[in-house]
Amino acid sequence: MAAKIINGTEISQQIRNEIKAEVVRLKNNHNLVPGLATVLLGDDPGSLSYVGGKEKAAVSLGIYSDRHDLPAGTSEAELLKLVDKLNHDPKIHGILVQLPLPKHIDENKVIYAIDPRKDVDGFHPVNVGKLMIGDPDFLPCTPAGIQQLLLRSGITIDGAEVVVLGRSNIVGKPITNILLQKKNGANATVTICHTGTRNVASHTRRADILIAAAGKPKSVTADMVKEGAVVIDVGTTRTGTTQEGKAILSGDVDFAAVKEKASAITPVPGGVGPMTITMLMLNTVKAAKLSRGLV
Ligand SMILES: NC(=O)c1ccc[n+]([C@@H]2O[C@H](COP(=O)([O-])OP(=O)(O)OC[C@H]3O[C@@H](n4cnc5c(N)ncnc54)[C@H](OP(=O)(O)O)[C@@H]3O)[C@@H](O)[C@H]2O)c1
Repeated sequence: MAAKIINGTEISQQIRNEIKAEVVRLKNNHNLVPGLATVLLGDDPGSLSYVGGKEKAAVSLGIYSDRHDLPAGTSEAELLKLVDKLNHDPKIHGILVQLPLPKHIDENKVIYAIDPRKDVDGFHPVNVGKLMIGDPDFLPCTPAGIQQLLLRSGITIDGAEVVVLGRSNIVGKPITNILLQKKNGANATVTICHTGTRNVASHTRRADILIAAAGKPKSVTADMVKEGAVVIDVGTTRTGTTQEGKAILSGDVDFAAVKEKASAITPVPGGVGPMTITMLMLNTVKAAKLSRGLV
């Protein structure tokens, strides 16, 4: 039987409705307006589109948006000065520096300079550490979105065998850390695979939940998937452009074949993608609440 398609656009909209209501409540009850600053260096079309999407989402949810588009040649010192200013700005609760940064800037230095209480990406070592010990303030957005997709689709994570393809700091490692916690909506047995893994398929075939975040188009084939598994495809590789100039995206999963074997699957686009910005908005609202001791 063909798999249930997990609709990320729909689930993302549900969460946005909840955020919108919470933003109204915070304004009415606490005179608090969550504020998000975005910082972009250069004019990479992908990054411009992400930052534009974040600004649009913030405005549509009643979140104050403060956008800083800087030239690609901005020095590290200038960028750090701006981060410091935003760290001290009471209207700003979340700071998002769009990655990747140009080569002349030390990315880690910039991430470490963001006040962890405003680190709504969840990339600062304080927040990475807090997630690891099971006491997170901010979950990184894409992994948080994956957990929500699973929970809101009624998929049991507790006790599941989860296999993650990819060990990056933005997807593979944090989703592993989220799902292995001894908590409701987690408590899974998680295996993480990478390019050093011998026989990746021997792991993926055991997975009740398979999360593909390798960035290798269509590399997860039906023979690698257990009958009835849940398959989450994080991959978004640009494989071309439409005549209208829109990017054509390919997931890591051979969707057409795997959907005949899985019990549930996310499409690309329309699966994990729409969740990421929504979770950033959720983190911004949480940062605002934390700033007033409202959590
Ligand atoms: N939808 C969204 O919002 C969203 C957000 C973030 C990322 N993404 C997409 O998700 C994908 C992964 O992103 P990323 O930033 O995590 O990528 P990344 O930093 O390039 O990491 C890729 C990881 O996959 C591993 N890998 C590569 N080939 C593999 C294979 N055949 N089997 C198992 N593991 C393999 C790599 O192993 P090594 O460590 O050994 O090199 C690495 O750990 C990309 O397509 C990206 O565009 C989507």
